[in-house]
Amino acid sequence: MSTAPTTHKALLSWVQSVVDLCTPDAVRWCDGSAAEYNEMANLMVDAGTFIRLNERLRPNSFFCRSSPADVARVEEFTFICSEKKEDAGPTNNWKDPKEMKETLNGFFKGCMKGRTLFVIPFSMGPIGSHISKIGIELTDSPYVVCSMHIMTRVSSKIYDLLGDNGEFVKCLHSVGAPLEAAAADTPWPCNAQNKYITHFPESNEIISFGSGYGGNALLGKKCFALRIASTLAKKEGWLAEHMLILKLTSPEKEVKYVAAAFPSACGKTNLAMLEPTVPGWKVDCIGDDIAWMKIGKDGRLYAINPEAGFFGVAPGTSMSSNPNAMRTLNANIIFTNCALTPEGDVWWEDMTKEKPAKLVDWMRRPWTPECGRKAAHPNARFAAPARQCPVIAPEWEDPSGVPISAFLFGGRRASVVPLVNEALSWNHGVFLGSIMASEMTAAAAGTVGTLRRDPFAMLPFCGYNMGDYFGHWVSMGKKSDKLPKIFYVNWFKKSPEGKWLWPGFGDNSRVLKWIFERCAGKVSAIATPIGNLPEAKDLDLTGLKGVTADDLKLLLEVDKEGWKKEIPLVKEHFAKFGTHLPKELNDELDALAARLN
Ligand code: GTP
Ligand code: SPV
Ligand code: MN
Repeated sequence: MSTAPTTHKALLSWVQSVVDLCTPDAVRWCDGSAAEYNEMANLMVDAGTFIRLNERLRPNSFFCRSSPADVARVEEFTFICSEKKEDAGPTNNWKDPKEMKETLNGFFKGCMKGRTLFVIPFSMGPIGSHISKIGIELTDSPYVVCSMHIMTRVSSKIYDLLGDNGEFVKCLHSVGAPLEAAAADTPWPCNAQNKYITHFPESNEIISFGSGYGGNALLGKKCFALRIASTLAKKEGWLAEHMLILKLTSPEKEVKYVAAAFPSACGKTNLAMLEPTVPGWKVDCIGDDIAWMKIGKDGRLYAINPEAGFFGVAPGTSMSSNPNAMRTLNANIIFTNCALTPEGDVWWEDMTKEKPAKLVDWMRRPWTPECGRKAAHPNARFAAPARQCPVIAPEWEDPSGVPISAFLFGGRRASVVPLVNEALSWNHGVFLGSIMASEMTAAAAGTVGTLRRDPFAMLPFCGYNMGDYFGHWVSMGKKSDKLPKIFYVNWFKKSPEGKWLWPGFGDNSRVLKWIFERCAGKVSAIATPIGNLPEAKDLDLTGLKGVTADDLKLLLEVDKEGWKKEIPLVKEHFAKFGTHLPKELNDELDALAARLN
């Protein structure tokens, strides 16, 4: 420990206790430098974990394939370990903190044998901003070190900021695969049998075992910036949300900021950097996954993006769906579980109109278009520095954040939910957030396509009782009369024949324009039992292709019968929260039922 770049007693003794328990071969205190990144990357190239992509096609970029036993978040093995079960609530897995620590101690004992323990000092949010927070991740995965360099702000300055007794969130991670001295390592060490993603909200601690992938292992992201941060936000009166943040500029150069909560793999990255098809409008990106928001002195809600990179879904990303993401991916990227081309570049489904003749797929098998298999895993992802995005807003790192004018909630709903719907009030908006439902995606292990309630897109990410979380949202509404207007959107409605009714992507700017103008009080809406909807004439549809008048009718219809059928389902959903459900939401449900009759 003599080489430690800190005199922080609690940090030093925590690291020592992890060394004693996990018995790594070495300890390395990371500094976030480019030299460190290069060293780690080269180490992984030598170990066969990373493949360096063709320098000419994709400079300083790496390709990586995980174990097929480790490809997505594992919600089944994600736990909130609060003292009381009730504080984790009915939507989280709960374990008694003492019991869980005992179980984990068993797994962590000797688990880093043959590996190096890395100490990663990082900031979520611009270093030093009053909204930012510090974490230290201890991990035995160099893949995590490189990914954290991209996704968070890793820096030796953090040690100085912490001083002797500064506060930080403890993030302990192991892939759970000790190395016997003689045995060769595998390209993607993990523990196929045992995975535990655990959170201790009362001590601001995260302990993750067995997985090296994404949100399971990059602990600054979902574990810290959402699960732990949401509990802090509840206590301290702010919001930590699964939301993108975008800047919308009108042809008259008026600016409004929008934050949107969609479940995993439901379009946040795409909306956050969209190229509007409506002439004269512009979208710039502040963040694509997480927003931390505090009410400012002027009563408005200010948001920062706590992350420094995008960990985005690769399949479906193309020059036609998301050209700004494609341009972000030109250099300095880590790609995981895509396919590899003979030229030494990556490919994934729908990246190009024409499929390559030959690839090696994400499972290392030869692939041709005729083979009938997907070349990339559906949850293949890229880690990309946000600053490389050609439409990153100049103010994206502003420590004071940006003032939000509108919240969007949405998800994948083939029926019932219209293209866009404006909430009648704050509480009605909270109600809409609380009843969000979406078809499941490959972002989490589970059955893709199953419709499930995913309130505020936070079902897998809320660190405390979701009923209390609803209450927190209701209480935020009482703190200011300058909070964002709330809208519910659905890009995923289908015709009875099962085809998308709305082209989505750049054409979502047509809906953003209506929302902008609603916030500015410049465009009309019709009051309906479910909220305020545009008529076709209120939307800018100039140049819109492939949407018939009948499609539009379906997109903007109020499906009264469908909503009536939702009422008992929402009642059932609400019943789970018992006395934790705020009365205001039951009132909203009764009012909706009354308006539908
Ligand atoms: P996480 O990173 O998992 O939180 O996901 P995300 O919400 O950022 O999702 P992302 O933007 O990466 O989108 C995931 C998938 O949704 C991709 O396959 C996209 O092609 C698809 N998608 C995004 N926007 C649209 C849209 O407007 N319409 C349709 N039909 N598909 C879309
Ligand atoms: C999500 O699943 O919502 C993600 C990817 O953003 S992960 O970081 O793996 O959670
Ligand atoms: Mn996400």
